[in-house]
Amino acid sequence: MFTIITGAQFGDEGKGKIVDMMASQYDIVARFQGGDNAGHTVVAEGKTYKLHLIPSGVLFDARLLIGPGTVMNPGILMEEIAMLSDNGVEVSPSKLGIDAKTSIIMPYHVALDGLREQKRAVKIGTTNRGIGFAYVDKVGREEIQMADIADKSRFMRKIEEIAPQKEAAIKEMGGEPKIARSEIDAYLEIGKKLKPYITDVSKEINKALKDGRKVLAEGAQGTHLDIIHGTQKFVTSSSTIAGSACAGLGVGPTKVNEVIGVIKAYITRVGEGPLPTEQKNEVGEHLREKGGEFGTTTGRPRRCGWFDMPLARKAINLNGYTSMALTKLDVLSGLKSIKLCLGYELEGKNIDYMPELSDDVSRCKPIYIDIPGWREDITDTESFVDLPENARLYVELLEELMGADIGYISVGPGRKQTFMK
Ligand code: GTP
Ligand code: IMP
Ligand code: MG
Repeated sequence: MFTIITGAQFGDEGKGKIVDMMASQYDIVARFQGGDNAGHTVVAEGKTYKLHLIPSGVLFDARLLIGPGTVMNPGILMEEIAMLSDNGVEVSPSKLGIDAKTSIIMPYHVALDGLREQKRAVKIGTTNRGIGFAYVDKVGREEIQMADIADKSRFMRKIEEIAPQKEAAIKEMGGEPKIARSEIDAYLEIGKKLKPYITDVSKEINKALKDGRKVLAEGAQGTHLDIIHGTQKFVTSSSTIAGSACAGLGVGPTKVNEVIGVIKAYITRVGEGPLPTEQKNEVGEHLREKGGEFGTTTGRPRRCGWFDMPLARKAINLNGYTSMALTKLDVLSGLKSIKLCLGYELEGKNIDYMPELSDDVSRCKPIYIDIPGWREDITDTESFVDLPENARLYVELLEELMGADIGYISVGPGRKQTFMK
């Protein structure tokens, strides 16, 4: 059984919570793209865990894998392993496997990310974690891989080959060229510690599937931040959609059984880029405050707005969702009326699907319908029938307009605050 979970909007839909909730039923949970730009929050037994690299299944017995499609900052991984250990969760090599080919984020990637963003006339709002430049090196065939930092002579050979052009690039952007050769000893030290974790992720997952075991692929960021299909240039540097799980983990598309889309009952975005239903007013404030909409990785306030159906329709096409998990329905409680964006007006025409180009998306004027809200606190609700009538109507309307089944509904950050529709 192979299940893929991705975010259907701009990230932070609550994938961490949904993966944690499902992980007890899976044998393997694997990350297939992105890096520590992701911030997955898992709330369990009164504790809050903020995870950036380690898959959100960590609190269960599942084997965890970091696939070769990801980019990994080893220092951040070590911090995360230490944080979990402090909380009584040991992440040993029998628990976590890292693919030998996983791209390593080097100090020069982080430096270049910051320097480039500073110089951009039109900013992206990156998380400043070196993600984009690590992927540039993967595509440019100049990456350093997990296996390299675990082997001194390979690592030194690669540094000698790569450092001169990194020095030149950093210098040209006004940075400190020495960064190109910094932290080498620290990387080797971590490489030694991580060596026992090295594995062949594709081989492990394919074997598990052949043996009838269950594998969950955990996406990071969200559909509209996809490097190929997203709102370029305001995107991340990896492919965030379901198909990327097959490529990133080395599993054939014929093996996929289920694709679950996590989607908020409204929408948020962190960083720059078009967000047609954004509410820069008291509604946006309500969503931000009540939903705790501040970035897990950067702490930045997230931009908030009404649910956007044209974006959801495109996400359903791009991912081929077999069902959806609707999160944060509780955050809408207390709003007198709720707007739902059915389509857009663009150049005098009405459209019901997200346009291809970011420039067009940013010119779209949302067409809303008003739906009566509900006052009741729903955070203790345990079943669909117990929701207030207007909340049920809202969920049913979303389902009908998306043309996709909502399998799970989440009404709070905790594990128990989820039920099946
Ligand atoms: P990225 O991989 O960074 O895109 O993040 P993510 O999709 O894992 O989501 P993230 O954890 O960054 O953000 C979701 C936030 O909402 C977290 O703080 C969760 O604890 C919280 N959360 C998840 N589901 C619910 C819900 O149904 N209601 C409320 N109130 N909070 C929720
Ligand atoms: P980068 O991935 O750091 O290069 O950032 C590129 C864009 O993606 C910026 O707008 C970020 O805010 C956004 N982004 C990256 N990771 C996440 C995430 O995990 N959640 C939400 N937005 C993200
Ligand atoms: Mg997040």
